[in-house]
Order: sequence, then structure tokens, then C-alpha cells
Amino acid sequence: MSIADIQKVSILGKESIHCGLHLVPYIVDTVLQTLPSSTYVLVTDTNVASLHLAAFQTAFEEHKLSAQARFLSYVIPPGETSKSREGKAEIEDFLLLNTCTRDTVMLALGGGVIGDLVGFVAATFMRGVRFVQIPTTLLAMVDSSVGGKTAIDTPHGKNLIGAFWQPEYIFIDAAFLETLPAREFSNGMAEVVKTAAIWNEDEFSALESRSAEIFAAIQTPSKDFSGRTKSTRSPAQQLLLSVIAGSISVKAHIVTIDERETGLRNLVNFGHTIGHAIEAVLTPTILHGECVSVGMLLEAEVARQLGVLSQVAVGRLTRCLKAYNLPVSLSDARIASLPAAKGLGVQKLLDIMKIDKKNSGPHKKIVILSRIGATYEQKATVVADSVIAKTLSEAVKVIPGTPTKSPVRMATPGSKSISNRALLLAALGKGTCRLKNLLHSDDTQVMMNALVELKGASFSWEDNGETLVVQGGEGSLSVPPNGKEVYLGNAGTAARFLTTVCTLVQSSATGERTVITGNARMKQRPIGPLVDALRANGSDINYVESQGCLPLSVAPAGLKGSTIQLAASVSSQYVSSILLCAPYAQDPVTLELTGGQVISQPYIDMTIAMMKTFGINVERQADKATGKLLDVYHIPRAVYTNPSSYNIESDASSATYPLAIAAITGTTCTIANIGSASLQGDARFAKEVLEPMGCEVVQTETETTVTGPPLGKLKALGYVDMEPMTDAFLTASVLAAVATGTPLQGRELTDGSRPTTTRILGIANQRVKECNRIRAMIDQLAKFGVETKELDDGLEVYGKPIQELKAGASIHCYDDHRVAMAFSVLSTVVKDTVLEEKRCVEKTWPNWWDDLVNKIGIDVEGVELPVSHSVASASGPATEDTAASIIIIGMRGSGKTYIGQLSASVLGWQFLDADAVFEEKHQTGVREFVNKHGWPAFRAAETEVLQELITKHPKGYVISLGGGIVETPGARDLLKAFAKHGPVVHVVRDMDEVVEYLGEETLRPAYGEPIMDVFQRREPWFAECCSYVFVNRTGSVRSAVNGHADTQLVVEASPSQNSIRDEVDRFFHHITGQRPNLAPTKTGDRRTYFLSLTYPDIAPALAHIEELTTGVDAIELRVDMLRSQKDFERPGSWIPSVAYVTDQIAALRQKTSLPIVFTTRTISQGGQFPPHAEAEAFELFHAAARMGVEYIDVEISWSEKRIQELVARKGHSVIIASWHDWSGNMLWDGKEVEAKYQIASKFGDIVKIVGKANGFEDNLALHRFAKRMQSSTNGKPLIGINMGVEGQLSRILNPTLSPVSHPLLPSKAAPGQLSFAEIQTALHLIGQSPAQRFYIFGNPIAHSMSPTLHNTAFQILGLPHKYELFETQSVGEEIKAALVSPDFGGASVTIPFKLDVIPLLDSLSPEAEAIGAVNTIVPRKKSNGSPLLYGDNTDWIGILECIRSALPNTAQTPDAALIIGAGGTSRAAIYALRQLGVKAIYLYNRTRQSAEVLVNAFPDAGVVIIDELGTWPEGGRPPTVIISTVPASATSTSPNVENTLYLPSSIFASQYPGVVVDMAYKPAETPLLGLAADVAQKWNRVRGVEVLLEQGFKQFYLWTGRRCPKRAVSERVWNAYARAA
Ligand SMILES: NC(=O)c1ccc[n+]([C@@H]2O[C@H](COP(=O)([O-])OP(=O)(O)OC[C@H]3O[C@@H](n4cnc5c(N)ncnc54)[C@H](O)[C@@H]3O)[C@@H](O)[C@H]2O)c1
Repeated sequence: MSIADIQKVSILGKESIHCGLHLVPYIVDTVLQTLPSSTYVLVTDTNVASLHLAAFQTAFEEHKLSAQARFLSYVIPPGETSKSREGKAEIEDFLLLNTCTRDTVMLALGGGVIGDLVGFVAATFMRGVRFVQIPTTLLAMVDSSVGGKTAIDTPHGKNLIGAFWQPEYIFIDAAFLETLPAREFSNGMAEVVKTAAIWNEDEFSALESRSAEIFAAIQTPSKDFSGRTKSTRSPAQQLLLSVIAGSISVKAHIVTIDERETGLRNLVNFGHTIGHAIEAVLTPTILHGECVSVGMLLEAEVARQLGVLSQVAVGRLTRCLKAYNLPVSLSDARIASLPAAKGLGVQKLLDIMKIDKKNSGPHKKIVILSRIGATYEQKATVVADSVIAKTLSEAVKVIPGTPTKSPVRMATPGSKSISNRALLLAALGKGTCRLKNLLHSDDTQVMMNALVELKGASFSWEDNGETLVVQGGEGSLSVPPNGKEVYLGNAGTAARFLTTVCTLVQSSATGERTVITGNARMKQRPIGPLVDALRANGSDINYVESQGCLPLSVAPAGLKGSTIQLAASVSSQYVSSILLCAPYAQDPVTLELTGGQVISQPYIDMTIAMMKTFGINVERQADKATGKLLDVYHIPRAVYTNPSSYNIESDASSATYPLAIAAITGTTCTIANIGSASLQGDARFAKEVLEPMGCEVVQTETETTVTGPPLGKLKALGYVDMEPMTDAFLTASVLAAVATGTPLQGRELTDGSRPTTTRILGIANQRVKECNRIRAMIDQLAKFGVETKELDDGLEVYGKPIQELKAGASIHCYDDHRVAMAFSVLSTVVKDTVLEEKRCVEKTWPNWWDDLVNKIGIDVEGVELPVSHSVASASGPATEDTAASIIIIGMRGSGKTYIGQLSASVLGWQFLDADAVFEEKHQTGVREFVNKHGWPAFRAAETEVLQELITKHPKGYVISLGGGIVETPGARDLLKAFAKHGPVVHVVRDMDEVVEYLGEETLRPAYGEPIMDVFQRREPWFAECCSYVFVNRTGSVRSAVNGHADTQLVVEASPSQNSIRDEVDRFFHHITGQRPNLAPTKTGDRRTYFLSLTYPDIAPALAHIEELTTGVDAIELRVDMLRSQKDFERPGSWIPSVAYVTDQIAALRQKTSLPIVFTTRTISQGGQFPPHAEAEAFELFHAAARMGVEYIDVEISWSEKRIQELVARKGHSVIIASWHDWSGNMLWDGKEVEAKYQIASKFGDIVKIVGKANGFEDNLALHRFAKRMQSSTNGKPLIGINMGVEGQLSRILNPTLSPVSHPLLPSKAAPGQLSFAEIQTALHLIGQSPAQRFYIFGNPIAHSMSPTLHNTAFQILGLPHKYELFETQSVGEEIKAALVSPDFGGASVTIPFKLDVIPLLDSLSPEAEAIGAVNTIVPRKKSNGSPLLYGDNTDWIGILECIRSALPNTAQTPDAALIIGAGGTSRAAIYALRQLGVKAIYLYNRTRQSAEVLVNAFPDAGVVIIDELGTWPEGGRPPTVIISTVPASATSTSPNVENTLYLPSSIFASQYPGVVVDMAYKPAETPLLGLAADVAQKWNRVRGVEVLLEQGFKQFYLWTGRRCPKRAVSERVWNAYARAA
């Protein structure tokens, strides 16, 4: 017999369960020796076969079976589908074919599928043969293999046909788990946790505290069969084995007592009644154990609702299941994101439960837990449907009434901070201490585990887990044995407190050190200042990994003491950590806090006060002279004396709810754990809010009793400052809503407010809590018909008689516990109030609803909310009307007029200034009006003007309003209503600039108050009224004092002036939907790409943005990676502020008009954004939508409701709904990915799914998936990528918005990312991008710069194309042949063919048509696929762009321009000048006749022929734009050169500087440009090559659809030009 250490468990009287590790030889030995047979048939699935079958074959071979015996194996496909009638028949056929007889022994090697199936075959084959279970999944080991249940599935349901058939042996080999996927392991852990929960508290405690080790045991593969014998077994292996064996023992015991499941055996169904119903809906995507995990939690909640199980137990169960990565609620992202999750309605689940085998008749049965480790009955208990429904439902309805338990006496959940401190104090103290009302949290759990491991204390539970009994260790601690690390997960307070605790450990003989560590997140959280302080005091502490963070290795040398200096401006927990441990230092401690402002003093005071209760007095030093308290503390050397019991004070904020219920219902409530001695601010609520409202309040040091006045008799508060108790303002607000009595004397408001006003101030911070709580209260109170008013620092609530409040309100709770609990107070007096998200109370009071029923005596029902099925037009824009007028609002001086005019100009709309309209209407200036009639009259008149403007000009106008318009509520309402169908744009500008600008301003009424105050008051109103925000970074805008364009503003020349126009153009065309700034992403469009910017601050990228974005269609801003300078050092997850992100976007937009992809990737999806900060994420998304950011990437794991809200207001922006699975387990041909696609395509206009390639094949699978989805109905564009180097092919093949990197970027956004150029090269090599030929047609062209221009661009972009000279005498056969060749990519046309090529073309662009010349040929396809030759003209764009960027003033249109020459180029020049809006164009040509041809060709262009240069028509202004189109050699600056045109200096006569363009390429300095340099230094000069470049860029874009890399190409062309010159 081979050697292995086996642990045997007996079942049904036989020791047939054998547990160990690496057992294959042992199994084969045992089977052969004890189960003699002629045939051994091993059945397994392909997964397991590839890993473990060979070992069995070898073992059987080694035994050299006798001639009569044989070993056969049969491998079937994995998965539940094999567990079918067909699957069974297949195995039977195999057995029959191989003439197996009744003595056959079958071996079932695999998971539960194999076990159930093979077991059932064995049960019926030849009326039953012997079989052996060799489970390889954890689920099979602890559950399906034990008990003899075997079965197959049918289309009617799971496990419907089967038999009880006991195996001869069950071999549990835990080493198989090393190859099991982690999710399958967790799946099995659900059963392990379940068994412990119903049967064995010790077992449960071990599971609770040792999850990390248990995971470690399967994650570290064992070598050389280590673990087979006890001597080679690691502690982790031993633990794993004992957990499994422990679990099996329980099940074996239960099965033995009740083999056929008549009573006791039902207990193992804990979690299964609800779990099975969930599984029926979610299978196969969600695994059995995962469904049972949720089921256990829900069933535990049923038990809690029935008053049987404590919240402590529910909390322990929750945390324990979570520790094994199991879902614990239906809102878990893994479940909620599934389409099938829609089927989890309450009624549906109840219907499914009807057919549970456990039911007795119509009554449902659930295993009710009474505490951890025990059940209420020794069987499942009958539970009413209404109870189950209440647990399952998402919403609740509170039934109004008088609390039946009045006078109520209760304790609300313990305060978190006090719980953490009390636990540590009692553990360090002397004697036994019973902690009552402890808030059991991750921190306390972790601290208890750690203290046990350090042998610092011992713990046990009493009163069903309500009391924690702490046996204090008097500060004696030791290093955990065998180098075991103390694991703290992500429990922050525990880590801080325990760091100092570890220094207390006394020296050990072994020389080992104490190591504390945590999860990945914890390893990024700072602990530096505390470690510094302890090190400076002599403690020997090392950072094991990164500096300043856990893990820490601490030498056991005790804490030295005497003076300790600590920088206390970061966290008061560092201070508390040292204070709590200081009594155990070798010398008395003097703790000096350094670094200025000490943070959170109240928490330090709390620590000191609690230390006193445990017998130690801390003395805070005071300045001798002034008596002022210093930040210096003296702590004596002593041992804490544990009080026999310690009542943990209730959380004071929570206490406000039951007290308020007493107040509002006229009953009495006593909170037993909180009184006047409390250190918590909210403890004042009873005295300072309830008492003045008319309640009787009796408060002792430790208790508070409130008795409300008779129903309806609460008094309004008048004015109340709630700054010391901000969290309680929500409770005060709901009481104020029904407070109709006049305020107590002295509290009334004397400013004419209504007598029932409660004005709550000092709570501005509540705008940035879980939600904007002030807004939340205003909006939700409005549902009851209660009026309120928002104030800067709070709100006013106007009380109403209870009977006038509207019944039937459905309260949205914003996922904020306090909103939910506050409104449940109001709902005790108003009928049919529904609280929509009942689970949000879990944050601080998970059993609030149960306590409401069981402890207060107010009934609560479950309510199923109607499901919102469809998403508001996921791809449709918010406003259909692209011509709806635009309203511009913003602070005075923010540039409303400037931006308004510019936007009207780019849109071709009318601009209206409301101030001007006002003055026109009232025939007086705004200032005079105010002086005469006062502000209120002005505001009213102003609002009237707004109303008129909106009515009169609904379309085609840009209307700019005065800055103060938002001061008037009526005007705000008008704006908000308008925003529903037309854009209201808030122009935002840096306040310093505004202040500087307004300093000079005299035209408008003065504010009469500091401008910053005005700004702060109006800011929220602007935000509330606008639908878009435009950030104006124009630099200084000044009124033109003597400008020749008198009414217009002149912008000081700044390098980015063109970009402002571009930005205005892009922004307003986008938000109106006239020309959304989007990349082409429809099927059949060219491939598109975006660059992932991975900078924490994009400033360094801005200078290179053009180079970085070469070829791409959009830029992705990884918002989760953004960190402003001051937050640079912050490690780990981080939420950048909206202000910072806004600034980054504005900066980026000045440098590029490429659309932005706004991405906030969470940690779980490969980014840095905290996965639970949903509210913050959506705040950012909404900010992006307001800024008109073009693409917003939203992970589908966020809540559906929030995504829907975003979709509803996204405007013309595009939602990319994304899903990332980095595990490598997502199969592109599996069901899961398709389900993700379906969800994503419901919300998104584009779907993004990212997986990980394990091999090349995965890319092909992705490709097939993409094709399949594309052809499905409603298929959305898909960004489908496989991560990793193996996935590179997917990046090459993906057609839509592929993320790319660039060699200049600091890091790649994802492994395997390629650059744009790399992808183009790859596409060419795999035949997806054939090389094309491009030409220049003309004569002579030998010196053309165009080949340099285009070939450089091709090369930079990685395109395989070639651009060649094509010189011919005329447009003839050669050119025709080139045009029809299949590899023809496009052509430039130059002199003299710009007109001659036109007959060869099929169609012309409107511009080429108007100009009457073609310089660009583009091959296109007709809709039927046949080729089409298209002619365009880019010369005019070249001219226009050059003038625009050289013009000293963009907002201004030149009045007059001069064109010299009347050839083909002049046509383009005229067209360009018209586009620029130039009013008069003077044309000079030597022969007047050709000039006349041009005038006739452009009859509307205002072209005037002049006969002499320098002489302008009557009344005409001199030109500020001059364009020469004649060869330079034909011009001269002296009057007497023959055959040349004389250029007099008088052409530069204009008093304003302008632009002069010479289209001639040679020489570099033409006579015209030379003349300008001499006589018109302020003019900007443009050379012919510059125009060539600009038109070439556009040409390149027309051919390739890609932007030309301008900077690099220009450089190359200029160099070539210089060489040729
Ligand atoms: N008879 C019972 O009392 C009982 C109890 C619970 C569940 N079940 C049944 O069990 C089945 C589920 O069992 P399961 O969860 O074990 O699923 P399973 O048998 O499908 O196994 C899960 C997956 O893990 C793979 N796998 C198994 N062992 C592996 C290993 N060591 N390394 C790598 N991969 C491995 C399998 O190939 C499979 O893909 C269901 O059909 C369920 O009805 C029966």
C-alpha cells in the first residue's frame, strides 16, 4: 500500500470517506485491493482528463493488472449538458460495447456533474454496480459526492431523474483543487460556509478569520507531492484539509441520521430555498454556490425579520461569504449586469419556490438560522410568503400608525469609532470585559483575528452574539509562530491601531519578527508618519515592500516610550494608535504632536476619555502662562483595568430616527446608550432640535428619552444652526415639514418669513455627502407637497399640517442611508409612502426596517417597484431640433458676447444681446434703469425680456443674457424649461481673469458687493440652469476702444486664437447636432482609432499632441489616471475633482479638435478608479456630458438606473458601454460574453468588450464573435479587444475605435497595445490594406514638393502607399489609364491641367464646381460598388487657412482684399476670401479682359477690377489682405523694369496691419514679400509653400481619411525646399 496520511470520515456506519493530498497511488491501491473486479472504468470530463487522467493510467499500469482485469477510461465533454439522458446513454453504450459486467467498478473522477452522472449510471447499469467517487471540485468534495444522491437533468428541470446510490469510497484529494479555477473554488466554499453556519460555530470562526490562508493553500502549487504525508504538509494545506474534512463530517453525520432527507437532512438546504429559485433564473451564468450564497444571506435576513437572528450574525455571514469572493446580494454587479437578472422579480421567485421539494403543501419552508452554528428548528421552518416577499423586494412601504411598542426602549447600532477603541482597550486590559452593542465591522473582525494571532487576548460571544466577551491579555503579546503574517485585509483603522500594538510584542527567543500585511489596496494606503514616529522612538520597523505602506516587519522589542513626536496633521488615528498603546511603553510617554493643525481633535478627545474609563488618565499639557491647551500629552505607565462590562455608545446620528419617530407620532422613546456625556455631536439633536420643537426631553449622562407632543403639534424651529450635528439635518427637515406650531419665543424669524418656517443653516457640507443631501431633501419633500427653499448654507422648510401632505409619495433615496431613514420617519404619519431603495440603510443600520417593526412597532411591507424596461432612446440625441436657438449665460465678463458672436458666426445664425434688446425696448440704458427704478424692477423687466426673446426667436439665434438673470427664480424656471429643447450654454472663465476684466468696466451697474460673493452665489444657479458648459480660455478679451469694427470686440493676438474659433466651431456644431464631432463608426466606414493618453496631468503632452495623435480619430482621456500636482503622490485608487478634469479637457481642446473619449476605468476593470465610488463616477460623467465631451465610456457594471439617467441627458455625445474581463476566463464563443454584449448594446451607442487572450485562437474567436454580433439585428459597433501580447492580432483586426499607443507616451494604457503606424503596417502585411499609387499630374513638375509632402505622411502613418510625379504634355491616354488602374489611390492636379481633367471625372465637389477648377482627384465607390472619380479643390482651403492663422484678429472680418493676377489660382483666392466674409475684393490684372471673366464667374462676390495698384475705388478702404497669384519673376518693386509688374509701396496703405500672401514658390523672398518686409513690418507674410502645405494636408485627408501629421511633414518639406533653393 502506498504511503499517504489519510483522515477517514465515517458515513452510514462505514469509514468510506478518505481525505488527504496527492492520493492517486493510494486510491488505485485501495480500489484494487478492496474492490476486486474484472473491469475498472474511470469516467471523467475533458478538462479533468487533461490534468489528472494520466496519473491514474500510470498508477493502474504500475500494478500490472492480472490477465482477467482491465482498466478502461471514458472522457466526456465538461459541463451540465453532459448530465442528461443522452449523456447517460453514451456511457452505458460504452460499457455495453466493452462487455462490462455486473462486477464492474466505476470511478467517477471530476466535479459534481461527473459524480451525479456516473453515480446514476452505476445505480442502474446491470441493476447497479459498485462505484467510487473521486471528486475534483470543492463543491463535489464537500457536497455532491457525499450522501449518495445521483441524478441527471431533463428539459423539465435539474436532477429530476435519479437515485440514492452510495459509493463504495469517496476519496477526497485536496491537491486536485490546485488546478481548479478560483471561481469554482469559491463556488464550493459557499457550501463549506453553509455547513459551518448551520452546525459549527468554531468551524465558522476559522473560516471567517482565515480566508486568506485558505485561498493561499490552493494558489501555491505543491511540489514533489508535498502534503501527502503529515511531515511534508504545510500549515496552509493542513488548514484546507481540516476545513474540507470538517465540512464533510457534518454532512456525513446528517446523512447518516437521515439518509433519505425526511427531516434533519433538510438543514443542509440552508440558503437553498431562495438560492434555488435564483439559480433557476440565472443558470448557467451564475454558479450554484454563488446563487446559494445570495440565498443564504436572504434567508438569514428572513430569520432576522422574524426576530430570530441578530444583525451581528447576519453581518458575520455577509463578511465571511464576501471573503471568499461570493456575491451576497442580487445587486452584486456580477448578477445585476446580466440580462437574465431582469427575471428576478419577487413574484417570479416566489412562483419558482412553490415547486420546492421541501414545501409542505402550499407552505414554503426555509432553514432558519438562530445564531451562527445553530438553527431555529432541527428542520426547515414554514415561512409566510409575505415575509419572504418583504426580504426579496427592493422597496418598502411604511404603514403609518402609532408605534405599538411605545414607550420604546432600544439601543441603536454602536458607534464605529467607539467600537474600535473599546475592543482594543479591553484586549489590552486586565480582566474580563463584556462589550455590549459592539458594531461588528471589518475593522473589529480583523482586529480580533490579529489579537488572537498575537496571543494578546481571547474572545467569545454571549447572548446569541450580542455580547463579545473579551479576556484581556494585559498587553502581553507574542510573535505569531512559524513566520505567519498577520493579515488585515483592507481594514484601515485596524492597520493604524495595530501598527503600534505590534511594537508592544516582547522579545522572542527565535529572533522572529511580527509582519502585518493587507490586500493590494491596503498596501497602497499610507502609514508613513506613524512608522516614522515609532522608529524615531527606537522601534525597529521595516517596510517589506513599498516605502510608507504595509506590509511592515516589526522587531519584538517593546515600545521604548518617553518622548514621542508625531506629525498629526494627516490622521488622528495615528495619534489614537500611540495613545492607546502608550501605557505599555517601557518609560512613561510624552506625546508631542507636530506639523501644525491637528486634524479631528474630537476623535483624540474620544480616545482619551475612553482610556480614562479603562483606568488611565492622560494629561494634556497647558501653556503655563496662558492656560491654552497644547498638543502635548502625558501618559503614565500602567495597565488598563477592564470594567466588567462596557456599553458601547450608540451611533448618535442613527439615534435621531427613533427619537424623531417618537416626536412625530406623539409617543415615547428611550435610547439606552446615548446621553449628555456623549462625545458625538449628533447627541445634541434631542436637546437642541426636538425640545424646541415641543418634545419633552429627559437626558441623563447615558440615556436620552423623548416624548413627542400630540400628533400634529410640533413647533417650527425658526432659525437653527446645525453645524455641530450636520448629519442630523435630514431628520430635522422631515420633522419641520409637519411642524405647524409657531416657534418658541426668541426663535422666530423676524424678516417676514412664514411663521411655520424652519431655517436650517451650517450644513453646506451636506451637498457633498453620499448625494447632494440639501437638493435631495428639497426634491423629495416636494413629492409630499412640502415647500422648501435652498440657501447657500442650508435650506428653509415650510411646515404644513400632516393631513395636507400628499399621500403615495415614492421616495428616491439616492442610495443614501440617511435619506432613507429620514423619510421613513415622515412615512409613519403619511399614507402609502414608498422608500425605493431599502437596502441603502445597510451602510449604518442594516436591520433598520426590522427594528422599525420589532422594536418600535411600526409595520413595514415589501413593495415591488414597476420595472423600467426600455432605456430612453439609447442612441437618439436629447434634442431633435438642430436649429433650436442657443442661450448663453454666465458671469459678467466671462466672454458671453465674444463666444456668442463667434458661435453665431460659425453656425451662420443671428446673434442677440439681451442687454441691447432691453435698452431698445425701454429706451434707456441698463444702468439708468436700475438707478431710476431699482433692482427688483430691473430684474422683473429683464425676465420679461427673456420670455419675449424665447418666444420670438425659438430657432436660429444665439442669445446672450445678462449675468444677473439667474438671480430671479422666474428667470431660472424659464431657462430650465428652455433647456429641455434648446441648449443653454454656461460660459465659464477663470475668475481672476474676470476680475481683471471687470476692473475696467463702467458701462454696467456696479455690484455693490464683492464680486467673489456674487460669483459664489450665482455659480450654483448657473449650474442648475445650464445644459452645457463652455470653458472660455481666450486670454484677455478687451473692448475695442477705437476699433474700426466699432461694435465688435477685439481679441489680443494670442497664439491660440485659431484654436478658439475651431473650438467654438466644434463645440456648437456638436451640441446642436448640426455636425457632431464624431469619428465614422458605422459598418463599412474606414477603420477608426483613438489614442489612450496615460498622463496624470496632460500638460506635458500638449506640446506634442499633433505628433501623438498622428492618424487617430479621437483621444481617450483616462480620467481615473488624472491627478493634479498636489495629488501626484497619492498611491492607488483616486477620484480626481470635477474642476481638475474640466480644466484638463479645456486645455486639451485648445490643442486639438479631435473628439475626446472620456474614460473612468475602475480597479476591477483594469483602471484606478475606486469601484464603489459610483456617485462620484457619475458626477464626472455628467460633467463630461455638459462639456459636450464626444464619447463617454461607461462600464456596464455600474447601476442600470444611473446609466439610464446619463443616457437620457447625453445629447449628441456617444455612450461607449464597456465590459472588461481580465481573468482570461471569458470565452468569446461562450454565453457570458454575448450576454454582456446585449446589456452593453442596450445602453451604449458603441459596445466595448475587452477580454484576455490566452492563445492566438482567442483572437479568431473574437473575430467570429464580432462578425456574428454585427449581423445580428440591432447590432451596435463593437470595440472588441483581447488584452496581452497574445491578443495583439485583435487590436489589428478591430475596425472600430481601436485604442492605440504612441512611442512618445510614458506608458501603454494596456498590455499588448500597438501604435497606429504599427497597426497599419500589420494590416498591410496580412493583406487588409493593399498599397496604392498616388500621382501629381502637371507640367513642369520636376521640382514639386508634393511627393515629399505625401510620401513623408504615408511613411509616418505606416501606410504602404507611394506618391509619384506623372508629367505629361496633355491630359491624355496615360492619365486615363492611371485613373482606372485598380491600385489608383488619388491624384493632385496642377498647372496646366486643373480645368482639363474635369471631363474625365464623374462628379465634383460644390467647391470645385464653384471655383471651376480641380486640384484633387479622389477615387470613390458608387452605392452599387462601381468606381467613381470625384474632383475637389483644396487650393482655396490652403489660402483660407493661411490667411486665418496670419490675420491679427480672428473675430474681425477684413473689409477689403486685393488679388493680383486673374489665372486659375485667383479663382480659388476669390472663393477663399468670400468664405472669410471679406466685403470688397479688388482684382488687378495686366489684361482687364481676363479679369472680367473672373468677375463674371463670381457675380455675387463683390469683385471690383482696379486699373492701378495702390489706387482704390471711391470710398473703398485700403486692403488688409493681399494675395499675389502671378509668378514672382513677373513682378518688381522698381517702376522701370521691363516686362514686369510694378508693385508700389502704397498697396500697404491701410492703417491696420494685414496679411500678404504670395502664391509663387520661388524665390523664397519674392519682390512682394520683400516689399512688405521693408514698408509694412506689422503685416504678416505668407509664402507659397505654406499654402501648398495647407492644401496638401486637406488633400491627404480626402484620400486617406486621416489627418496629415502636419508638423513633421512641414519640416521635411521646408528642408527639401531649402535644399532645392
Ligand atoms: N448530488 C448532490 O448531492 C449534489 C449536490 C450539489 C450539486 N450537485 C450537482 O453538481 C453539479 C455541479 O458540480 P461542480 O460545481 O463540481 O461542476 P462541474 O462538475 O461542472 O465542474 C466545474 C468545472 O470545473 C472543471 N474541473 C473539475 N475539477 C477540476 C480540477 N481539479 N481542475 C480544473 N478543472 C476542474 C470541470 O471540468 C468543469 O468545467 C451540478 O450538476 C449539481 O446539480 C449535486
